[in-house]
Amino acid sequence: MTKRAKITIIGAGNVGATCAHWAAVKELGDIVLVDVVEGLPQGKGLDLFEASPIEGFDCDILGTNGYGETADSDVVIITSGLARKPGMSRDELLTKNVEIVKTVTEQAAKFSPNAVLIVVSNPLDAMVYTAWKASGFPTRRVVGQAGVLDTARFRAFIAMELGCSVEDVSTLLLGGHGDDMVPLPGFTSVGGIPVTHLLSKLDLDRIVERARKGGGEIVGLLKTGSAYYAPAAAAVQMAEAIIKDKRRVLPCAAYCNSEFNIGGYFVGVPCILGRTGVEKIIEVPLNEEEQAAFSVSVAHVKELVGQVEQLMK
Ligand code: LAC
Repeated sequence: MTKRAKITIIGAGNVGATCAHWAAVKELGDIVLVDVVEGLPQGKGLDLFEASPIEGFDCDILGTNGYGETADSDVVIITSGLARKPGMSRDELLTKNVEIVKTVTEQAAKFSPNAVLIVVSNPLDAMVYTAWKASGFPTRRVVGQAGVLDTARFRAFIAMELGCSVEDVSTLLLGGHGDDMVPLPGFTSVGGIPVTHLLSKLDLDRIVERARKGGGEIVGLLKTGSAYYAPAAAAVQMAEAIIKDKRRVLPCAAYCNSEFNIGGYFVGVPCILGRTGVEKIIEVPLNEEEQAAFSVSVAHVKELVGQVEQLMK
């Protein structure tokens, strides 16, 4: 009999707790929810478990303030850190979140040396780098959640515009998880039909801009924090791809060296995600405009990672 997969979720705030919710409903495995705040992971974990007889999912859900219970997890989702408030950029969280992500990653990596780490904390690409350094894990087992969320927003806005099913919109997005991310209409189709046949350049430009600023739009509405339903759903889709070895083709923040000529940074690129983590990065040819936008976004990530390196010295 094979045992259930084990998923640790670090941070029991809105994103972490919602990750636990999606993972439980999908019956991905047993869940350990960790947070420094006493009672919070225990309370949310128990509350979620008490929903299981109603929804009919079978998994153990444990809330804890320690890491012993996380031992031998298959996947660790890191959501810890501050979220932004209106008017803040993700970059302003860097100094505080480097310290937090470093600390939690060191603990998690010690207890689950074979896990795949999925980082969700912001500023995302810099936090993936932080987690990689802190874990000492091979690059393929450290991956950041951004592209699944950002393409989901892009897909949702295209579907809203066309009045069609979100499921039928397929797209790609490159670069960092900042406002200079690069949604690619040229790699977007609706039921196999290139989106450029269905929407004008003007409409697509407007939708691209809304997708890029999608995180800020939610922060502006919530006023007290940032998005969590879609970010958590995205992280759990990645966890599912890993746990079930689905080899999904998903845009993720993955370590690129020769790939796209990045030179040793984590940035958003299309990946095959399976049991061992990032199994392959798929390089795609870009036109001049796409390449220029990608280069701007990558330069931004490199600058943030420079700050991380200073702080981690
Ligand atoms: C967002 C934040 C969580 O994009 O980065 O919603």
